[in-house]
Amino acid sequence: MTKIDLNRGTDHEIADEHDELRRLLQQFQRLLAARNADRHELTIRMTGLANLIESHFGHEEEEGGYFSEVLAEAPRLQQKIDILRQQHAEFRTTLDQFRALSRVHRGSPRCWQALEQLFYYFLGEFLEHERMENGLVQEAYERDLGDSE
Ligand SMILES: [Fe+2]
Ligand SMILES: [Fe+2]
Repeated sequence: MTKIDLNRGTDHEIADEHDELRRLLQQFQRLLAARNADRHELTIRMTGLANLIESHFGHEEEEGGYFSEVLAEAPRLQQKIDILRQQHAEFRTTLDQFRALSRVHRGSPRCWQALEQLFYYFLGEFLEHERMENGLVQEAYERDLGDSE
């Protein structure tokens, strides 16, 4: 099972959201492993997860949010921030696919397999994304410390 740890190395206030996300992702992972949810429950859980992820992205993207804080500290990281924004767009597409799969879920092994495949693809990419964000905060401040020496 994939170990979900979004907060390693971050000292940012979005850590709370990362905690909540981790909790929901683990919940979803357990649900997939047990394969005992019907379409209705799946859709509710999926919607909860997608809403939280969307509001998390919003907090990172908004004026004065995480991305602008990093850029205010270190404008040289613009290119990396652009990549992260682009990834948000890709995650939104994957979440749409996920919702579509949940809506037509019939509980067959094939349905579960399709969900699992998409979930683990998403999870891998998402954890890597969050790691990159956490690393960026450190990068922004470390270089500053180095510059002031
Ligand atoms: Fe993000
Ligand atoms: Fe994030």
